[in-house]
Amino acid sequence: MKELLQQLTAAYGPSGRENEVAELILKLLEGKIDTARRDALDNLICERKGTDPKGKRIMFSAHMDQIGMVVTHIEKEGYLRISNVGGLSVSNLRARRVRFSNGVQGVMTEQPLKPGETSSLHTCYIDVGASDATEAEKLVKVGDMAVFAEPGFTVNQHRLAAPAMDDRSACALLVSLMRDLPPCPHTVVAVFSTQEEVGCRGSATAAYSVEPDEGIALDVTLCGDQPEDRKLAINLGDGPAIKIMDARSISNPALVDALFSAAKRAKVACQREVLPYGGTDASSIQLSRGGVPVCTVSIPCRNVHSPCEIVDLRDMEGAKKLLLSYLLG
Ligand code: CO
Ligand code: ZN
Repeated sequence: MKELLQQLTAAYGPSGRENEVAELILKLLEGKIDTARRDALDNLICERKGTDPKGKRIMFSAHMDQIGMVVTHIEKEGYLRISNVGGLSVSNLRARRVRFSNGVQGVMTEQPLKPGETSSLHTCYIDVGASDATEAEKLVKVGDMAVFAEPGFTVNQHRLAAPAMDDRSACALLVSLMRDLPPCPHTVVAVFSTQEEVGCRGSATAAYSVEPDEGIALDVTLCGDQPEDRKLAINLGDGPAIKIMDARSISNPALVDALFSAAKRAKVACQREVLPYGGTDASSIQLSRGGVPVCTVSIPCRNVHSPCEIVDLRDMEGAKKLLLSYLLG
């Protein structure tokens, strides 16, 4: 799992530019799935047929895209002005290493504020080492996207920090699940979705074409275990979380119960998640066609949407055990 996580978090893939991640996942799943296809929104849809004709059609969704920055214009001094691709907070943008798909690297910086001015994306820019606009334009174009480029690293024994743990940790979980899934009564459709960070767009078209009986999103969730933090009942390392609700979906109660029972059978400690904000691919899957029962299985994560998102490998292994137990009933 650790190696998968390292490989997947190192791939470049802001929203709408997920190809590198999709190609890596396809390679990792070679021989482990019956069919794989890409759709018009670039989702990667992998299917494994169930052994029981009366089995369910279960869709999992883990998003491949990560948050990023898009170049909006280039200043005459050679600095790149940016806008956000997904949720970016300025407090995570000062003096950060970033990279573009063509390998160009830069430093995200905030300019000195004038009196009364407040920090925003408009007070930030990327320095790619150019001395003027002409030189900068040889490196980067308006519309190019950058992502955080801090390399991943281990934090103590069981924890890893990297950009894009949201949601490559869930991609790693889903890859690992498909690789180790024995013959199963249900047909499992593993969707590696696109454009989640800009409004769960990929999973909407994927769910429409997959037509699942139920949908389970796999994503990170926030922890409430930091000092002075908001009071969320989620702790890093206490196991995967089963979502009861967030701002954009209410999980199907029978599916929530079935997941908790599966966790109990597998002796996996699970946390009960209520997140007063945010949303996952479950929000768009549930509204597909005539409606789909959904739930989200979450990986607790610290510093979500920063260059150093931290997950605990034990939570991920727990999530995998839980899902195997659910599928094999
Ligand atoms: Co996110
Ligand atoms: Zn996510």
